Amino acid sequence: MEGATQMKAEERKMKAELGGIVVLDFGGQYTQLIARRVREQQVFSAILPCTVALDEIRKLEPAGIILSGGPSSVYDKDAPVCDPGVLAMGIPILGICYGMQWVAKNLGGTVEPADRREYGPAHWSMEQCESHLFKNFPNNLKIWSSHGDNVHALPPGFHATGKTANAIASAEDPKRKIYTVQFHPEVKHTERGTEILRNFLFAVCQTEPKWSGAAFIEETVEALQAKVGTHHAICGLSGGVDSTVAAVLVHRAMGDRLTNIFVNTGLLRKNEFEHTLEMYRERLGLRVVGVDATDLFLEKLKGVSDPEKKRKIIGNEFINVFAAEAEKLQAQAGGDIRWLVQGTLYPDVIESVSVKGPSATIKSHHNVGGLPEKMPFGLIEPLRDLFKDEVRSIGKDLGLPEEILVKHPFPGPGLAVRLLGQITREDLSTLRDADAIVVEEIRRAGLYNKVWQAFAVLLPVRSVGVMGDGRTYGLTVAVRVVQSEDAMTADWVRLPGDVLERMSTRIVNEVTGVTRVVYDISSKPPSTIEWE
Ligand code: XMP
Repeated sequence: MEGATQMKAEERKMKAELGGIVVLDFGGQYTQLIARRVREQQVFSAILPCTVALDEIRKLEPAGIILSGGPSSVYDKDAPVCDPGVLAMGIPILGICYGMQWVAKNLGGTVEPADRREYGPAHWSMEQCESHLFKNFPNNLKIWSSHGDNVHALPPGFHATGKTANAIASAEDPKRKIYTVQFHPEVKHTERGTEILRNFLFAVCQTEPKWSGAAFIEETVEALQAKVGTHHAICGLSGGVDSTVAAVLVHRAMGDRLTNIFVNTGLLRKNEFEHTLEMYRERLGLRVVGVDATDLFLEKLKGVSDPEKKRKIIGNEFINVFAAEAEKLQAQAGGDIRWLVQGTLYPDVIESVSVKGPSATIKSHHNVGGLPEKMPFGLIEPLRDLFKDEVRSIGKDLGLPEEILVKHPFPGPGLAVRLLGQITREDLSTLRDADAIVVEEIRRAGLYNKVWQAFAVLLPVRSVGVMGDGRTYGLTVAVRVVQSEDAMTADWVRLPGDVLERMSTRIVNEVTGVTRVVYDISSKPPSTIEWE
């Protein structure tokens, strides 16, 4: 029943989300980027699988539709397709790369394998024409391409607006408001790419830039109030930005009828539990139950060294602790708790939707994935339409302190995946001290906001050292500092020598038992960011 309520509420789109852009996903590597670029222009965008029914598109009342790129050839047996009715809805279309080829093939043009494939930079030159898309553009642009097929003959009604040395690079049928580009305007390497997208949004589709943080907050609060009525909700806080923003937003809508639960797994960083709890309560005014379950977690983890086993134990235990706490709160609330708040983001939603469509993405980690099944609550996911950078910006509008907005990601299983092998209290304490030094030194060097993550890892490796006159046989700490856009790939950061030196000297001097510090110089792929 609750599940059905949730579906209905989610189907009702917010005002700010109507009249935007629908991006139909043909499985392209840049689909998310297209949606983000559109939102950067303050126009809402929604990614839908290309197989979606036309009615689903109509519900969003889009001002325009963008057809994404994709890895296939339109002539492949399993090539992804849209309902061709998309082209006859009277809504302006922008076909990008595969999107262009699919349009050409469907409207009577031809697509052929290119004599010369174009991957990477290419040159576009304008054809003599008046195009909304390229209004007041120079005659030549550097563009970014990635295609093996070309549109060979354009469909009736179309004319070319630009060429590369090898192919038609852009074409349009202004009467039907169908525009196509063979290259990628969403990629920064394409000169004036943003202007091309802006021209499509504002000159062709005549959308309004109304997607803003303030509108989102206002509408979300209103929608939540209507959805929850006088009932109560609970939320699991992790100390990270997503769950915090979700909680503060819901708190705005329902005040202290929202109770948050923050669990100390015993695997948090130095002073993190106390510090975060205080911030939640004192600075954000949230109602939070802090549960110190350290003993429970460490007991369950005793003697376990297999990383997957550790993760499973932590995940299960977390659900048990949370569920037990929820039960207590439910008794106190006289059965009035009906909702569970989660900080799910748009990329998670697209990933799970796209599994059915063509875009096959690697599933990422979920901390509390098992929660909803275990609990008889409806779900509130106020951030499920937002990208991470939008969540940060909403958090800022909500007045969240800087420290939470710029906080580095931290894995759900916490230090358990940074303490290799079996977990003991003593080693956890060693790792915490070393980690705190790494972060302090990164901050001191002014690098905290510039890197994706910076942390220490404690290795189950002992090595010989000399301290004073004696020989030691001490622990090894690895320092990991990486740069990344989205954690799918990451590069190790070339830290200045003096920063590395300070870290190393301080760790060895200040953290008892550590005699060696190494710096991790591996990138992802093939290495992952975390060590376990
Ligand atoms: P990897 O190690 O897979 O990490 O390169 C990618 C990003 O995900 C974080 N990470 C996790 N986050 N639960 C989480 O919530 C997990 O089990 C988990 N494992 C890794 C990691 O810190 C990095 O930002």
